[in-house]
Amino acid sequence: MGKTVDVKNIGLRGVTVADTKVSFIDGEKGILIYRGYRIEDLAEKSTFPEVAYLLLQGNLPNKKQLAGFNEELLKAREIPDQIYEGMKQYPAEALTMDILQSSISILAMHDPELEDDTREANVRKATRLIARLPIIAAAWHRIRKGLAPLSSDDSLSHAANFLWLLHGETPSEEVARDLDICLVLHADHTFNASTFACREVVSTKAHIYAGVAAGVGALSGSLHGGANAKVMKTLLALEGENDIAGWVREKLDRHERIMGMGHAVYKTMDPRAIILKEMAQRLAKTTGMGKLVERSMQIEKTALEEFEKRGKSQIKPNVDFYSATVYHQMGIPLDLMTPIFAISRVAGWTTHIIEEKTGEAQEKPALYRPKAEYVGTYCGLMGCTYTPPS
Ligand code: COA
Repeated sequence: MGKTVDVKNIGLRGVTVADTKVSFIDGEKGILIYRGYRIEDLAEKSTFPEVAYLLLQGNLPNKKQLAGFNEELLKAREIPDQIYEGMKQYPAEALTMDILQSSISILAMHDPELEDDTREANVRKATRLIARLPIIAAAWHRIRKGLAPLSSDDSLSHAANFLWLLHGETPSEEVARDLDICLVLHADHTFNASTFACREVVSTKAHIYAGVAAGVGALSGSLHGGANAKVMKTLLALEGENDIAGWVREKLDRHERIMGMGHAVYKTMDPRAIILKEMAQRLAKTTGMGKLVERSMQIEKTALEEFEKRGKSQIKPNVDFYSATVYHQMGIPLDLMTPIFAISRVAGWTTHIIEEKTGEAQEKPALYRPKAEYVGTYCGLMGCTYTPPS
């Protein structure tokens, strides 16, 4: 560490900027692990609170530890009134990601432990953030529709309670478990843009909320978490389109991107997309939205054939491609799709923030400070001077 590498690398692709013990991706083989455990194993057998505990503490909880963590999540569900009051003033068309980002700053203002930067205090703050982001997103969804926010049902799981708060109906066990699996799948993903944003911000010794707010901002973009909503918009716009294959080809001929495809690290199918594709197909048997899922599969089929022909066979569906159809089938509106990503990823963000702050993975974490090549004018060095506007 600390060695200067004088190579221009646009977008930092392939550049190692830190050590981490949180998660690992093998992009060639399509492998993702959290703290040593494979994502397929966790998606099949664990729950989101177990995964959040695993990320934050570094080991899977035993029964007592899990019960204690779930209890902490329940206790933290209340959010400051100021957040509800603010929501009543915001324009109804405000984006949920913006509501999340601004609410996170308000949570900071109300946290009595804000100044305590110990690992223990930051884990408590992380737990509160994990508990509260779903409450905030669901409350906003109701307030913008002129409805009163609902109170949490403490008998429900983290995922089921979110669906209850959103729709005012207790979800079926199957749907609640499917959302829980989605949260497991999205909880961490190494140094993606939003996680790097979180770590970069706290490398200045800024507090955990400042880091998470930065992560939400980075995630909102359509090349990152914002892609799932774009996928869904496209699928809805293509309703009634008879020539999906032609649509894909024309789009690629115009050098446009197909949202939900391609990845900066995976050069094969994203392992999360495999699980979500199966989930989307299974859900369609009860939701009757088979045509929608069929449309996604038609896009996938033609896109893969076309990418192969165009020498870009590494581009495959990513996590956002099928999560869109899964969320849509759960009745989740377009602009809550990316917030669900955030509701899960906050577990990974906060874990990375704590790792950055404590130096758990490397002896000496450093303030991130890359350099840029100056391609502007040097006129000041050649004699030109400032003249006031005339
Ligand atoms: N559709 C069509 N072409 C794509 C593509 C997509 N989804 N993703 C990448 N490409 C093409 C680019 O146009 C580029 O072509 P060119 O070399 O002819 O200019 C080439 O593949 C490399 O693209 P680049 O952006 O440099 O690759 P990357 O690996 O850095 O890109 C993403 C990663 C995620 C930014 C990119 O795949 C993308 O924009 N995907 C769509 C958005 C998305 O789903 N984001 C969520 C990611 S989880």
